[in-house]
Amino acid sequence: MVVREILPGISSVGVIDWHRLAFDDLMELPDGTSYNAYVVQGSEKTALIDTVEAGFDEEYVTNLIRAKLDSVDYIIANHAEQDHSGALPLLLELYPMATVVTTEKGKDLLCSMLLIDDERILVAEDRDSLDLGDKTLVFYSMPWVHWPETMVTWVPEDRILFSCDLFGAHLACSSLFADGSSRLQEAAKRYYAVIMQPFRSKIQEYVEQVESLNPAVIAPSHGPVYNNPSAILSLYREWSSDEGKNLVVIPFVSMHHSTKWMVERLTDALIQRGIDVRPYDLGTSSTGTIAMDLIDATTIVIGSPTVHFGPHPKAANIAFLTNILKPKARYAAVIGSFGWGGKTVQTLGEMMPKLEAEMLEPVYIKGKPGEQELVAITVLADEIYKRHQDNHLV
Ligand code: FEO
Repeated sequence: MVVREILPGISSVGVIDWHRLAFDDLMELPDGTSYNAYVVQGSEKTALIDTVEAGFDEEYVTNLIRAKLDSVDYIIANHAEQDHSGALPLLLELYPMATVVTTEKGKDLLCSMLLIDDERILVAEDRDSLDLGDKTLVFYSMPWVHWPETMVTWVPEDRILFSCDLFGAHLACSSLFADGSSRLQEAAKRYYAVIMQPFRSKIQEYVEQVESLNPAVIAPSHGPVYNNPSAILSLYREWSSDEGKNLVVIPFVSMHHSTKWMVERLTDALIQRGIDVRPYDLGTSSTGTIAMDLIDATTIVIGSPTVHFGPHPKAANIAFLTNILKPKARYAAVIGSFGWGGKTVQTLGEMMPKLEAEMLEPVYIKGKPGEQELVAITVLADEIYKRHQDNHLV
């Protein structure tokens, strides 16, 4: 690992996890990740911003040694989750005079999850500041990006914002600064989709607040540093907006092809009506990729056969995920087939109470879909088209 200067007195001292495959066992990491941490050296005092995942302590401490810190006065914990606080217990041993700075809720979480001595913690209220000499740290409380305790740290003299998970990307890469590549944009979108999407209204508010600071640099806790933040701010405005795109997402599972045939008919019918459509076979599709499309979709159609009187577990899983991600979709429907009965449509609908979407008439048929049932799919396509038209999307 290396120490890399961002601005005079401000360096990146975090670590890159090139080989991590999943986060929270929920989100695939096709490109690894990084646990970013920073040092801010003022003329009088020194602060560390966040730490790293436990298990990467040695690399992190090596970086701190290379940074030639005489002392550490403050360790800023913008976020208590262990990928940023994991090395905190070791740091407190290495720097016995250092004080941890976090929010009131952050203090509670650090004490309970990492057994940190509460006497080592200073609570920062919204807009409190610390004087490092020729640099100042200003703390902005920003709960729910994506835990209740989160805050960000602003250095007004350098106009750099340490934004914790906000604007992050699970992307292991050798460049310190964002390069504007489509690879980075996809990593940032995948990250937003799974981590930030449920807190969309908060994100809208915080993007405005960050824009009002007019930052020159945004340094998140995962992925590259943005030294031209306008692009990521613009993407966050788009992703968190209330407006969906002319897109229908169809996650489906099929056991004996009936549901698959219905999905294929619906896909063709939507294409014919000028609507973008993405069918995802849940047997092979990536959760993160589906979550990315949920950011944009105006309509979600779940396809599932009936298994033991209810939805296929893979369809139930995507309904559960949709419910917790709370995408902006305005319309939803269920299609599929059954052998002898069950409550698949009702169960899937009940699994998504947080989805503020109009439920369209389901198409649920017995056995193999014949031409009459496939006509019902065409009617569903017409209903979706009508609603997309009402929203000026097509
Ligand atoms: Fe990167 Fe919420 O931790």
